[in-house]
Amino acid sequence: MTSDFKLTDSLLHRLAGARHVLVLTGAGMSAESGIPTFRDAQTGMWAKYRPEELATPEAFEANPSRVWEWYEERRRSVCQAQPHAGHVALVQLESLLPSICVVTQNVDGLHQQAGSSDVWELHGNILRSKCHVSHRPISREWLADSTHSPPRSPYVRHGLARPDVVWFGEVLPQTAIDAAMAAASRCDFCFSIGTTSMVQPAASLPLVALEAGAALVEINPHETPLSLHAEQCFRGKASDVLTSIIDQLRACKDT
Ligand code: OAD
Repeated sequence: MTSDFKLTDSLLHRLAGARHVLVLTGAGMSAESGIPTFRDAQTGMWAKYRPEELATPEAFEANPSRVWEWYEERRRSVCQAQPHAGHVALVQLESLLPSICVVTQNVDGLHQQAGSSDVWELHGNILRSKCHVSHRPISREWLADSTHSPPRSPYVRHGLARPDVVWFGEVLPQTAIDAAMAAASRCDFCFSIGTTSMVQPAASLPLVALEAGAALVEINPHETPLSLHAEQCFRGKASDVLTSIIDQLRACKDT
C-alpha cells in the first residue's frame, strides 16, 4: 500500500459510508495513458497549439482540413492508448460502494474502455464524428469509404464531417450536463481528478457537490483554484493515489 496518500480517518469513513460518489476527471486522468493534457507547461496541447485555430467552429470553417487532420492525429494516438491502474481503480470502486458516477471532460473513452459503467462525457468523444451542419452522427463505415479530408456529410449537401467534440464557444450536450449536475447535487463524496478546474461548467460541479454537503478530495500533482475548497488534496498521480485509496477502502471495509 502507498501510505503517502493516506485519506484522513474521517474522510475514509465518509467514503466507506458514501451512497453516491461523483468522480470528475480531466486531462490529467489520461496523462498516464500517454494522452497529453491541455494546460501543462511544455507538454500540454495548448502550449504547442493555439486553441482558437483548432478547437472552434470558426477555425473549422476557415480551414476544415487542417482541423480534421489535427483531430485525426489525436484520434490515432487515442486508439493506441490503454486505461491505466487509476482507471481500473475507479472500476473497482464500483464493487466497494453502491453508486459511482464518473463525469469526464476527456474525449478518449478510457473510462468506458476500463469498464466504468456510469460515465458522462461533457466534451464529447473524439472517436465519434458528426455532421458539422445537422450535428447528426456519421458512421465509421461512411468515413472509411471517403477520400475527402474532411469527409463529406451524408446528410447535408456541401456539409462536412467533424469530430463529435465540444469546441470553445459551443454548448455542452444537454443530457450529459443535466446528469452531471444531478450527480453533483446528490453525491455525498466527490473526487476531482486531473483537472485544472478552469473550464466551466465542469469546474463548478465539485462546488455544487460541496454545497450539497459532500466531502471533496482533489487528486492533482499541482494546486488548482479548487484546492482551497477540498478537504484533502493529494499531490500525486491519479494511478498512485487511486490505487492507494482502493487499498485503504478495502482495509476499512474488512475491519
Ligand atoms: P488541463 O490540461 O487544463 O489540466 C490537466 C490537469 O491534470 C493539470 O492540473 C495537471 O496538473 C493534472 N495532471 C497532470 N498529470 C496528472 C496525473 N498523472 N494525475 C493527476 N493529475 C494530473 O485539462 P482539463 O482541466 O481537463 O476542453 O481541461 C479542461 C478542458 O480544457 C478540456 O476538456 C479541453 C480543454 O480545452 C475542450 O476541448 C472542450
